[in-house]
Amino acid sequence: MNALPDSPPEDPLQVADSWLTEAIEAAVQRHPNAMSLATVDAGGRPSARIVLLKYFCPADGFLTFYTHYKSRKAIEIEATGFAAAVLHWDKLGRQVRFEGPVMRAPEAESDAYFATRPLGSQINAWVSAQSRPLDSIESLMSSAREKALQLGVDPDGSAAGNLARPAFWGGYRLWFDALEFWQEGADRFHERLRYERELTARDSHSFDAGPWSWRRLQP
Ligand SMILES: Cc1cc2nc3c(=O)[nH]c(=O)nc-3n(C[C@H](O)[C@H](O)[C@H](O)COP(=O)(O)O)c2cc1C
Repeated sequence: MNALPDSPPEDPLQVADSWLTEAIEAAVQRHPNAMSLATVDAGGRPSARIVLLKYFCPADGFLTFYTHYKSRKAIEIEATGFAAAVLHWDKLGRQVRFEGPVMRAPEAESDAYFATRPLGSQINAWVSAQSRPLDSIESLMSSAREKALQLGVDPDGSAAGNLARPAFWGGYRLWFDALEFWQEGADRFHERLRYERELTARDSHSFDAGPWSWRRLQP
């Protein structure tokens, strides 16, 4: 397995981007972009779930995922402003961890992503109050059929949807103020390389970033 470079690069973002690209190109698993996303509620209780990383920005250092803005994760993100995420590619013996503040993605960006989703997914986003109790899956499916009827579309059609994005659904950007590479080694002599930097809010979607510093960590 590839080792981490002997002289770690000053900027880890290209390495993280290339690890993700390699995992996608090698089709290491069905969802190489699936990551575990951890949030904490206002009382300090953590929770985690899988979401899909949909965009990685190697220039600024954030990743984007999409979800319901009233889901449990969203409520926790809005309460604390922070999250952590981890990607694991078992076949490559690699893990990358991200930590930092979270901001909503610009609305135009969420609109553009929503427009690429198939109609069925668009309708589901409209009718599913994600994380709320559900009486029966049938009642949700009948809400989806009603919504489709109301919009005059065929919910079983395979064409890309053209529904507008609901305001309660969209992207979040997880900005990295810490990032850690983990590369599997023999006899559990795994390599760990942790990078940190300072972020200062620039506007409601982005941060100005200080320089990265790094250190190796014991396995
Ligand atoms: C492979 C996989 C991909 C998923 N992708 C997403 C996603 O991109 N966005 C999302 O909101 N939920 C996604 N989910 C569902 C979440 O894991 C979770 O059930 C849901 O978001 C509700 O979480 P919450 O109640 O903690 O907010 C995915 C689940 C799996 C297993």
